[in-house]
Amino acid sequence: MSAQPEAERRWLRAAALIGLGVENVDTPALVIDLDAMERNLDRIAAFASARALRLRPHAKTHKSAELAQAQMARGAVGVCVQKIDEALALARAGVADIFISNEVIDPAKLRRLSEALRTLPTRFAIAVDSALGLERLAQALLEAGVTTPLSIDVFIEIDVGQGRCGLPPGAPAVALAQRLLTQPALRFAGLQAYHGGAQHLRSANERTGALHASAQAVRQTLDALAQAGISTPLVTGAGSGTFSIEAASGLWGELQCGSYLFMDADYAQNQTDPGAPEFEHALFIKAQVMSRGQDHAVIDAGHKSHALDSGPPAVAWPHDLAWANGGDEHGLLSAATPRARLPALGETVWLIPGHCDPTVNLHDFYVGLRGGLQEGRVERLIRIDARGALG
Ligand SMILES: Cc1ncc(COP(=O)(O)O)c(C=O)c1O
Repeated sequence: MSAQPEAERRWLRAAALIGLGVENVDTPALVIDLDAMERNLDRIAAFASARALRLRPHAKTHKSAELAQAQMARGAVGVCVQKIDEALALARAGVADIFISNEVIDPAKLRRLSEALRTLPTRFAIAVDSALGLERLAQALLEAGVTTPLSIDVFIEIDVGQGRCGLPPGAPAVALAQRLLTQPALRFAGLQAYHGGAQHLRSANERTGALHASAQAVRQTLDALAQAGISTPLVTGAGSGTFSIEAASGLWGELQCGSYLFMDADYAQNQTDPGAPEFEHALFIKAQVMSRGQDHAVIDAGHKSHALDSGPPAVAWPHDLAWANGGDEHGLLSAATPRARLPALGETVWLIPGHCDPTVNLHDFYVGLRGGLQEGRVERLIRIDARGALG
């Protein structure tokens, strides 16, 4: 009996389709429309470079070293991740510059990071929002023998309205920065200021209002730091829903948008900001009809293939179909308009996931398609290196 893991078998089976038409791709499959994704990459790169802003896309969206490198090849300074193990997976796969965009408090995880700092060529940065987090980071580096001055960039996270991580703006951030500056192995790199709750406010006006308050929190903190004689090298933050607002503020110097790469069905419900480029859907689930009823079609992709936390997937093809949850492995399609045609048994159906990040985490690899969903060919497979890297 072969010891080849099943994931590797699936990879090899899919790899055998490279060069062949999309109709051969097994279902359910996570598919990237490479042409659309590359247009998204180009649009954000042009946006950032026209404003002389640094781009550090969030790799929590794609979890792939190859896609991180595609972003960096177009000018991104590096990528963000949320988790230590995400950082390690991407660093081991060759990503050169990685920012862990929140505090990590667990000493065991910080030991893993410190070991990576010692042994991998990757440049790492991390956020903190407490004195204990800062102490533990410094201690882990010391224990691992990482004593070179300024070995790691450290950002202080402030809460700019989401009510998740981050210190209150102003004096608490100054106090933490003062502590940080006493740690020789750590470099104070600036402020982490991200408002996740504002990303999916539907109207551009609502998002502008929320970010106005975020900008005030950032300004207040920058002023307080300056008054304490501390200069702040950079403010980093922003997501795909608000980046044009941060960009226009003159406060943020680095943008962390992630979902722009794929544009899920939830993000498509946002009214586009007048100052932002349009992004296209580039991530799809290819499914097929496995059972037909009189008034419904059952597809072979349920919520084990795509996440439902941000709402249902949209049906990209055939048109005019409504999707309903049929369970773990099934989706139910019905007519949404009188002109809708229910697909036949075996027919292909294309879904746009409701939320791209957790959908990606359900798959081992992407099938990269060139030439569109109907006529395209499989160009390459792309590994999701940090799938399941939740620690
Ligand atoms: C800290 C941080 N920055 C940036 C992003 C990217 O946001 P989006 O995927 O909405 O562009 C996220 C997403 O959750 C985040 O948590």
